[in-house]
Amino acid sequence: MKALLCENFGLPETLNMAEVDKPSPNENQILIKVKACGINFPDSLIIQDKYQFKPRLPFAPGGEVSGVVDAVGKNVSHVKPGDKVFALTIWGGLAEYALADSHKCLLMPENMDFITAATTMYTCGTSLHALKQRAQIKPGETLLVLGAAGGVGLAAVQIGKLIGAKVIAAASTDEKLEVCQKLGADDTINYTKSDLRTAIKELTNEKGVDVVYDPIGDKYSEPAVRSLAWQGRYLVVGFAAGVPSAIKLNLPLLKGASIVGVFWGAFAQKQPKESMQNFKQILGWIDEKKLQQNIHQVYSLKDGGQAIRDLMNRKVIGKNVVKIN
Ligand SMILES: NC(=O)c1ccc[n+]([C@@H]2O[C@H](COP(=O)([O-])OP(=O)(O)OC[C@H]3O[C@@H](n4cnc5c(N)ncnc54)[C@H](OP(=O)(O)O)[C@@H]3O)[C@@H](O)[C@H]2O)c1
Repeated sequence: MKALLCENFGLPETLNMAEVDKPSPNENQILIKVKACGINFPDSLIIQDKYQFKPRLPFAPGGEVSGVVDAVGKNVSHVKPGDKVFALTIWGGLAEYALADSHKCLLMPENMDFITAATTMYTCGTSLHALKQRAQIKPGETLLVLGAAGGVGLAAVQIGKLIGAKVIAAASTDEKLEVCQKLGADDTINYTKSDLRTAIKELTNEKGVDVVYDPIGDKYSEPAVRSLAWQGRYLVVGFAAGVPSAIKLNLPLLKGASIVGVFWGAFAQKQPKESMQNFKQILGWIDEKKLQQNIHQVYSLKDGGQAIRDLMNRKVIGKNVVKIN
C-alpha cells in the first residue's frame, strides 16, 4: 500500500511517499481502507518528535480517519468488513490502510460523508468536553475563544453558541474572523490589530468574560486570565504558539476564578460513557445541520506534507483534510 512516511523526525517537507506492507489488525484492532484523513496540530508535532506519543520510525502521521472496514480482529464485534467508520488512530492515517483500536472506532451515521467524518471527532470532541465537563458553561455566559478560526477554536465557537453562550471570537486576521461570525460568533477581536484586554473590556462593559478557551498559550494567556469575570474559568487547551505561559497565581485569587486543564484523550479513556454521550450530542447537531466543519482545503496523499505545513503557517481556517483512495 502507499503511505506518506516519516522516516526521520523533521518538518513536513521531509515526509516521503513509499510503498509499504498493508498492516494486519491484532485481536482488538480494525483495519480501515482510508478514504479521508483530517489534519490536526499534533500531526505537526509527532513528525518532529515533539508529541506525547512517540511512534517508532518509519511511520505515517495522521491521527483521525474515515473509511471502510477491511478486516477486524477476533474480539471486535461492533463493526464488520464493508462498514463505513471513523476513528482516531493517533498516527498511521496518511496511508491507504490504517489500524485503529476497536474502542476508538465508530460507525459513521448513514448520511455523513467521509470528509465530515474525518474532521469531526478530534475538534468537536475536545471543544464539547472543554465547555461542558470542564468549564460547565451555562446559557447566557460569555465565552472568549482564542485561535477561534483554528480546528478546535471553530468547533468551540459553534458549540459555545449551541449551549447558549455569548461568543467572542479572537483571531489574527479579519478573513478568519469573518468565518467565525458566519458560524455564529457574536463579537470578534483581531488580536494583531487591537489590544486583547481593552477590546474585551469594551465588549463586556468592563465585566470580563466568564470562560476563556485557550488553545494557543504564549502572549495571549495573561491578558485573557486578567480579563476573566468574577468566578470565571480559564480553559488550558493547548500551546499552538509553542510556549506554555507562566501565570501568576494572584490573578485567579483576585477573581475567585479557576484555571482548568483540558485533556480530551484522557477523558475519553477514563470516562467512556460521558465521552460517548458527548459524541451522540455532536452527531445529533451535525445531523440537524447546527454544527459543521469549515473545510479549508482538500489535499491528495502525496501533498499531505503541505497540508501539515499550511496548518503550521496559520493559513488554515477550520480544517485541512487529505483524500485517499
Ligand atoms: N487539550 C486537549 O485535549 C487538546 C485536544 C485537541 C487539540 N489540542 C491542542 O489545541 C491546539 C490547537 O489545535 P488545532 O488542531 O485546533 O490547531 P490549529 O487548527 O492549527 O489552530 C491553532 C490556532 O492557533 C493560532 N496560533 C497562534 N500562534 C500560533 C503559532 N505560532 N503556530 C500555530 N498556530 C498559532 C492560529 O490562529 P491565529 O492565526 O488566528 O492566531 C491557529 O488557527 C494545539 O496545541 C493542540 O495540541 C488540545
